[in-house]
Amino acid sequence: MNLSSQPGPIGIFDSGYGGLTILDGIRRMMPEPDYLYLGDNARAPYGTRSFEVVYQFTLQAVRRLFQEGCHLVILGCNTASAKALRTIQQNDLPAIDPERRVLGIIRPTVEALGDITHTGHIGLFGTPGTIRSRSYDMEVAKLYPDFRVTGQECPMWVPLVENREADGPGADYFVHKYVFSLLSRDSAIDTALLGCTHYPLLIRKIRKAVPTDVCVVTQGDIVARSLRDYLVRHPEMNARVSRGGTCRYLTTESAAKFSEMGSLFLSRHIEAESITL
Ligand code: DGL
Repeated sequence: MNLSSQPGPIGIFDSGYGGLTILDGIRRMMPEPDYLYLGDNARAPYGTRSFEVVYQFTLQAVRRLFQEGCHLVILGCNTASAKALRTIQQNDLPAIDPERRVLGIIRPTVEALGDITHTGHIGLFGTPGTIRSRSYDMEVAKLYPDFRVTGQECPMWVPLVENREADGPGADYFVHKYVFSLLSRDSAIDTALLGCTHYPLLIRKIRKAVPTDVCVVTQGDIVARSLRDYLVRHPEMNARVSRGGTCRYLTTESAAKFSEMGSLFLSRHIEAESITL
């Protein structure tokens, strides 16, 4: 692969629109860098796909972002972070370019939990892929062995968001269903982690459905802080980030559809470009 050594944008990848909630948090904290977002909307959702398929799709996206000039790619997707990150870091990066980096969002999210929970009982909402991978359970066990994680698969939440039904009555039904199922398994949960980057779009309904003393945690600000710290600790990578304050949006689906939905997600007008992977 012929890759440019010029400074380039920070790449953010997600299966669809969800990673925009991560991009938004990062840009609020760090507006200066250039960013390149890639949503694989044509193949979303990833949450119910096999390990091998999520890995192959994510690798294709990472390669594309590298070809577009990114030196650093954030997997703004828990499913891809859970199922593809480690293999890409260990098996693929050394061959593609050992100087480039791919970072996930599970580790920084787990690190932040220690400052949030009082009871150490964490409720985790995620896609079936994320929950079944047990990636969160393993990270929590490493950092906070006394904490207890109770996971809840929410297979309907991403389709509701991707299909613009997040504010509709169908969403009420499925929010209550999964919240009830989670809380009935551990009444000491004081922290409900939205472990899927699409779920902040449902936060109003989720907050209403959980008891008021349960803190609902999203990942945008957490990942932004972690990325800022990473760039301070890695000046060599920081120097390879271009700084024009721009953001481009790539999608594997229709550009018009992404522009319309993305503008809703971000509450400002955006223009996307359609690509094939
Ligand atoms: N937004 C992704 C995540 O954080 C998953 C969405 C999907 O199922 O494709 O897990």
